[in-house]
Amino acid sequence: MVVNNLGFVETFLRKKNKGDRQVYADLKLAVTPVHVACIMDGNGRWAKAKGLPRAAGHREGMERVKDIVRMSSDIGIQVLTLYAFSTENWKRPKSEVGVLMNLLVEYLRSELDELHKENVKLFTLGDISRLPEMALKEVEAAKEKTKNNTGMILNIALNYGSRLEITQAVQKIASQVKNGKIKAEDISETTVSDYLYTAGQPDPDLVIRTSGEERISNFLLYQIAYAEFIFVKEAWPDFTFDRYRDALMIYQNRHRRFGGL
Ligand code: IPE
Ligand code: IPE
Ligand code: MG
Repeated sequence: MVVNNLGFVETFLRKKNKGDRQVYADLKLAVTPVHVACIMDGNGRWAKAKGLPRAAGHREGMERVKDIVRMSSDIGIQVLTLYAFSTENWKRPKSEVGVLMNLLVEYLRSELDELHKENVKLFTLGDISRLPEMALKEVEAAKEKTKNNTGMILNIALNYGSRLEITQAVQKIASQVKNGKIKAEDISETTVSDYLYTAGQPDPDLVIRTSGEERISNFLLYQIAYAEFIFVKEAWPDFTFDRYRDALMIYQNRHRRFGGL
């Protein structure tokens, strides 16, 4: 599947210049990754470089989230994972955490109807119980509303940390062994996968990190064993449609060997 809803694509393209039509044409011929995961980094530096408060960078970043989600769904990406808030991001000033949580609520309120119409299934990775009540309520409602959708899965990683995820998986597996439900010798790689937040989903094929930083920052450590990495120099608010297309073009020319020849 390449473009599953022409009406939707046209709505999207209306906001763009005519040249972008070619982008979709090119991508129709491309090998598309099944699962794309983005470390959306650089909002604060983007704002600072413009003499704006960090919040302005997060707000502009949210606009890119809308664009990238639409484009991903249009071109047939099956799973899109966006790293929105890490377990370490609580270290930031309360005011910035508040801005991020408010933007999450705003995003869901403005986009949920369209996501649902596009058959997108919203899912979260991370311990969302620690989110402020309003954000938690909005997230739960969005997951509930879209739970039976069969289009793209949109994973939003919220209070997500990969080490915490793996640690909790180990605890759960250990208690299953203790209860006699699993034999220690039967624990396989699949068992481990099944106890992660991403249980049942394909592993990421492509991880994109914006802002020039080249690190993983506690993101999907188990799942990215054979992912391709693309580090983009632009900050997330500058990660436009064209930059995403460029990344997808780079991806399709990579030779994945998975340890074979
Ligand atoms: C990414 O931008 C958003 C989150 C981590 C929530 P940053 O806020 O990390 O921006 P920089 O890296 O400080 O520029
Ligand atoms: C990673 O970005 C987390 C998210 C994008 C949500 P950070 O900005 O928190 O990562 P570090 O601190 O630069 O590693
Ligand atoms: Mg950062």
